[in-house]
Amino acid sequence: MEHRPLGRSGLRVSALSLGAMTFGTSRGFMKGVTSTDREARAILDRALEAGIDTIDTANVYSEGRSEECLGRWLEGRRDRVVLATKCRFPTEPAAAGETRAPDVGLSRRAILRACEESLKRLRTDHVDLYQVHMQDRSVPIEETLRALDDLVRSGKVRYVGCSNYTGYRLVESLWAADRRDLGAFVSLQLQWSLLVRDAERELIPACRTFGLGVLVWSPLARGFLSGRYHRGKAPPEGSRLASWTETWRHVDTDRGWAILEKIREVAKRRGTTPAAVAIAWLLRRPETSSVILGARDVGQLEANLAALEVRLTEEDARALEEASRPAWGYPYDFIGAREAW
Ligand SMILES: NC(=O)c1ccc[n+]([C@@H]2O[C@H](COP(=O)([O-])OP(=O)(O)OC[C@H]3O[C@@H](n4cnc5c(N)ncnc54)[C@H](OP(=O)(O)O)[C@@H]3O)[C@@H](O)[C@H]2O)c1
Repeated sequence: MEHRPLGRSGLRVSALSLGAMTFGTSRGFMKGVTSTDREARAILDRALEAGIDTIDTANVYSEGRSEECLGRWLEGRRDRVVLATKCRFPTEPAAAGETRAPDVGLSRRAILRACEESLKRLRTDHVDLYQVHMQDRSVPIEETLRALDDLVRSGKVRYVGCSNYTGYRLVESLWAADRRDLGAFVSLQLQWSLLVRDAERELIPACRTFGLGVLVWSPLARGFLSGRYHRGKAPPEGSRLASWTETWRHVDTDRGWAILEKIREVAKRRGTTPAAVAIAWLLRRPETSSVILGARDVGQLEANLAALEVRLTEEDARALEEASRPAWGYPYDFIGAREAW
């Protein structure tokens, strides 16, 4: 397994990492589409054996049960793993009429408490990469950065990163860290796939310019690009997109099927699967530090590991990019007509 530096930090991550969002029985947004604990352990064992040593979870996945499941597996293996988790959202949805404002978001109080709870569930005394799950404009950036910096100084966290930021807020955070001499985000975790390329407008160029590592989430657009879905047919029973009807409506479009068709064409030419092509396209992008695989069973993990064997040509990449080019909009079109942005 290739390892890549996480931005300008000294941390190296495996080019493929494993996402733990499918672990733990969920009562929330992953209800009905997670793995059993036994399957999760098998996935984790196989991933580590294949050289995937970077694992991404969040306090909110399966309301804390993803971290608990991972924590049990980590015992005796902690030193072999680059462990990433996140804070920002509540682990349990608030009951009707209940206010939980002090313990969610990116305030100092919420971050320090979330970190303690994650460490307990993960059965470890430190997290390698602690990420804020989404920006929080209601809290001053300096407060968030100072709390994260304190976690680094106390040894509970090795590096800090962020996820789901707008371009301006990301750069504002980098400036604030520089101005106050606080630890800066070393990475951005973002949604990126041949279906969802919006991050290429601002976020990918920002990461390239300011030296942040890029961790890619939903590389298969929640499974749509795996090839298991077919035009004109309902999503297979039990699949994620059978239960995420709103997401299905977004992908079940002429554009979605045209992109998938092109991926299938390239996969046929390379003698591989659509999933492997979709992941290989992300792996060949120079900005990608690691592609976070989602797998609900060992079979899916094996299928996705095949991406490591795929060598896309310039012609393949061009064909995929042309078929999946989004409407960039203003000012990208204006600038793009004259020079590269
Ligand atoms: N920072 C964030 O806000 C954020 C958001 C989302 C995810 N993430 C991270 O990114 C990781 C990956 O995200 P994701 O799970 O959405 O990734 P994804 O690769 O887009 O989707 C994974 C899902 O697609 C299906 N699938 C995967 N491989 C397949 C294959 N070879 N054949 C058929 N179906 C296949 C499975 O769903 P079914 O079998 O259930 O259909 C699987 O659970 C997460 O675990 C998490 O760590 C982060």
